Amino acid sequence: MLTVVRRFSLLAIAVIAATCAIVFAPVVTAQTPDAFEQNERLGRGVNILGYDRIWRDRSEGRFQEKHFRLIKEGGFQSVRINLHPFRHMKAEDGYRLPDDWLAVLDWALEKALEQDLMVILDLHEFNAMADDPVARKPMFLAFWQQIAPRFKEAPDNVLFEILNEPNRTVTPEMWNAYLREALDVIRETNPHRTVVIGPAHWNGIRALEELDLPEDERNVIVTVHYYSPMEFTHQGAAWSSYRDTSGVEWTGTDEEIESIVNDFKVAQQWADVHELPIYLGEFGAYEKADMDSRARYTAAVARVAEGLGWSWSYWQFDSDFILYDIDADEWVEPIHQALVPAATTRTSPCKSCQ
Ligand code: BGC
Repeated sequence: MLTVVRRFSLLAIAVIAATCAIVFAPVVTAQTPDAFEQNERLGRGVNILGYDRIWRDRSEGRFQEKHFRLIKEGGFQSVRINLHPFRHMKAEDGYRLPDDWLAVLDWALEKALEQDLMVILDLHEFNAMADDPVARKPMFLAFWQQIAPRFKEAPDNVLFEILNEPNRTVTPEMWNAYLREALDVIRETNPHRTVVIGPAHWNGIRALEELDLPEDERNVIVTVHYYSPMEFTHQGAAWSSYRDTSGVEWTGTDEEIESIVNDFKVAQQWADVHELPIYLGEFGAYEKADMDSRARYTAAVARVAEGLGWSWSYWQFDSDFILYDIDADEWVEPIHQALVPAATTRTSPCKSCQ
């Protein structure tokens, strides 16, 4: 019975979603973009909005319209918008995404596109999915059943990322099945959309060998995350097992650089075999490490990735690991310089954009 009700709700959602597509300026020719070119366009990026109060109350948003412009002027080409929709979706309401939540997303997408940024819509419900992947599956699919048709007319600088960091109970085998189902949902309305997919085990490089993508899917960018060595990047981080670790430096020795290079080589070899581009969707070091070490590490990871032709996205703009100090309204200069060498903070002559 429950299944019948659920099927009905999901069908109802699909119908509602299909009638709610956002209208974008017409695209001249709708054709499948080249995933490698798309990846090049992603270039340097930053994760945004994941833990912002804006999703609960628009008036309390920390991230403002001007930050899209600052990101662009600061030398970045893309943003990865981290989405936590599950707490807003209710089974009794057919997992419908609420209008006010969608309005924030529409706003963010519109403002990012106005700055000619590439945008990844990243479903960031990795913890909720791992807590109960079977119970959460209808909600997971319902999300894409609404988001895909809504943005089917969006230009090709909008990409969909199926799920951030599948982990724990979401085994590689389960993930290979779930990603196919979500991809099928996306492809129904978005045959040309570039889709970002990472391996299980927290998008870890070593889990790539267990990632099984549909052979005929060429419009895919593969993502990995990198926080090694964890005792350095996550020292003092309450949510990690390194919460009691402190004082670990990263000085940029040959050995330290070599270990990044060797880890990235593993991913690159996988990418060469599968002929797919790589996007480093998250990296960075938490605030408890000393700033000099953080800046050295951040620069080293970014440069090794760039040397391999990867695009990347720093974790993250606001909240923690911050790149921009919203309260002081200024860049965290050592991190900014590490990411975009010789970056200077430019102010826009456009007063009305403030
Ligand atoms: C999580 C954050 C966490 C970061 C580094 C991200 O994927 O969403 O909560 O701070 O990884 O651990």
